[in-house]
Amino acid sequence: MTTETAAASAAFPLSARVRSLRSSAVRDLLRDAQRPGMLSLAGGLPAPDLFDVEGLRAATDAVMRDAPLTALQYGVTDGQPGLRAALAVLLASRGIRTDAGQIVVTTGSQQGIDVIARAVVDPGDCVAVESPAYLAALQVFTLSRARFATVPVDADGACVETLVDRAGSPPKVVYLVTNFGNPSGATLSRERRVRLLHWAVANRVLLLEDDPYGELRVSGQPQPSLYELAGGIPGARDWVVYLSSLSKVMAPGLRIGFAVLPAWLREGVVKVKQSLDLHTSTFVQEVAERYLASGRLAERMPMMRDVYRQRRDALVDALSRRLDGRLRFNRPEGGMFVWARFTDGTDSAALLPAARELGMIYVPGEAFYDEAPDRSALRLSFATAMPEQLDEAVARLARAHDEFRGRQEPAVAGNQRVAGVSEG
Ligand SMILES: Cc1ncc(COP(=O)(O)O)c(C=O)c1O
Repeated sequence: MTTETAAASAAFPLSARVRSLRSSAVRDLLRDAQRPGMLSLAGGLPAPDLFDVEGLRAATDAVMRDAPLTALQYGVTDGQPGLRAALAVLLASRGIRTDAGQIVVTTGSQQGIDVIARAVVDPGDCVAVESPAYLAALQVFTLSRARFATVPVDADGACVETLVDRAGSPPKVVYLVTNFGNPSGATLSRERRVRLLHWAVANRVLLLEDDPYGELRVSGQPQPSLYELAGGIPGARDWVVYLSSLSKVMAPGLRIGFAVLPAWLREGVVKVKQSLDLHTSTFVQEVAERYLASGRLAERMPMMRDVYRQRRDALVDALSRRLDGRLRFNRPEGGMFVWARFTDGTDSAALLPAARELGMIYVPGEAFYDEAPDRSALRLSFATAMPEQLDEAVARLARAHDEFRGRQEPAVAGNQRVAGVSEG
């Protein structure tokens, strides 16, 4: 910051809400990712080599040929009817039976989280989030001035029993990534889903089910969504919002997300969205509708899953071979992330400069916590690198860890000597 900028910001401070936001560690790391030769496992980006450029070009041409005036005009806030109908078909293939009237198209699922937060969270309301949690959701709820309750995550996803068995008043909202969490990679077990739903109905808690990764399952058995399970529990449909996105399966640059909302919430959400952007790009919605109607997404999904499976396997195998015993990590059944912890307690943020020096980066785990961060944790994405690059990135990480420990040990020994002197 220059002296003049610092003076201006002191004289005219940003709002307290904005001042309370931390800068995104992931965004800061993107600069490093551009360095020549850098192997970045830090990004949260889907594989660009899987973008269906041909198919999207054909859909764009069809829009300009068949419906240019509609596509270039303002549209309705809840989304183009044709796209909502196509999304209802897509959702049915995931076991989610809904009609187009319940769906609201959002500008990415990120906006979905934001509009729900604005519609239901007042300053001081309690929102339960996973720990670790998706960073940009923490930012949304921080901006809405929520109080956080944190729910630890284990191999079966969020430990919902800590919520259900908790004394005191329940949170107003629970925000969860149910499949292949970002950053945890974990999937919520069916038992926990059912337990959570019964509790939400009894306590009138809104469950915000964020599912951008569910279609990217590469092994194991699919779990029914909270929304689907809610159909079998009286009253539960009123307490679930299902959020998803075309970002991870088509392209994030389209910025198409969607929310399936209970009837009581829909109007409020649409009003909020209207105040934010009137509507999501009509043009892009028309393109997405034609692309979905072409059937190419369904055709390409098996190929995309194969590619992600190869990359997941390459990363997990490299971690097992090169960092066995030094890192404890999960084997996610899908999505894009492996979440790992150094067993010797190495601080992953302190290690990052050494890894960067050797040409690899990751996201230190501390970025994903509202409180009590696990400093030994790190998030590794397997989505954008080729299998041999993933192996090389892990080799660099192992070397960085060796060097880092080598540097730490003399320092620790030195500290002990100093402590010994003062004790004497
Ligand atoms: C868990 C989760 N939710 C939501 C989003 C936002 O996705 P988009 O706004 O592109 O749909 C992301 C993106 O990384 C994510 O990981």
